[in-house]
Amino acid sequence: MEVVILKSAKSVAATAGDLVAELLRVQPAAVLGLATGSTQLALYRYLVQQYLHGGLSFKQATSFNLDEYLGVAAENPQSYRAYMDREFFDHIDIDKHNTHLPDCGETENPRLVGPLYEQKIRDAGGIDLQLMGIGGNGHIGFNEPSSSLRSRTRVKTLTKQTLEDNGRLFKKDEFQPKLAITMGIATIMDARRVLLLATGQSKAEAVAKMVEGPISAMCPASVLQMHERATILLDEDAAAGLSNRDYYDWTHLQNESLKARFGGEHG
Ligand code: F6R
Repeated sequence: MEVVILKSAKSVAATAGDLVAELLRVQPAAVLGLATGSTQLALYRYLVQQYLHGGLSFKQATSFNLDEYLGVAAENPQSYRAYMDREFFDHIDIDKHNTHLPDCGETENPRLVGPLYEQKIRDAGGIDLQLMGIGGNGHIGFNEPSSSLRSRTRVKTLTKQTLEDNGRLFKKDEFQPKLAITMGIATIMDARRVLLLATGQSKAEAVAKMVEGPISAMCPASVLQMHERATILLDEDAAAGLSNRDYYDWTHLQNESLKARFGGEHG
């Protein structure tokens, strides 16, 4: 697990965005795993700027989002499909036919959505780079604490903490979904590379558990300790609970000097 602590949330977004751009430069038809949430917004804005002014193209890329609410139609502004269109897809050159979310039509059986989604990911050749955030309770996707570490895409019930955390995004009388369909933890672990972004003090405790705690279903993100290529990008606030901080900074310096001498990992 590579832990990179940057000076601001803006640098977290730019560093993640540069990694996405670097991947698409050498592999234009890459398969991206995407996430929603507040943390990813700065990343999408950065990538849109790179598309508009930096020669970045998503034309051949395919994407799979981590999760989608159950019982919220795609046209509803609260759906994750609407978020992705509004914040990202509408502003870049990706072919929307190649963008996927684990959504469930009104008359569809939600239990069948997961296996079909897994098949679509396999048919696309698997995920090259999975971007994600972390919940205050350590969830990744909507794999809430106690989720099986070998889970696959399926329906999950959101915890009360997640409902409270996300409640800020819903109006008082608006329907707030309690169920979602999410990639499983094993699905996420299959991605060839994982990039987790966390910013702000509200994530400090979950980040410390993820990076330095025991691997446990009670902190689903801690399973990333077992991933071959997981990079955790943090701002100072999100890194505040880490006890091994000096080593992460020292490692980052060594990696930067290797990169300066031998080029980026795709270069
Ligand atoms: C969203 C998702 C969630 C969020 C997490 C952090 O697609 O899968 O795991 O990444 O809840 O959300 P924010 O960034 O809003 O704090």
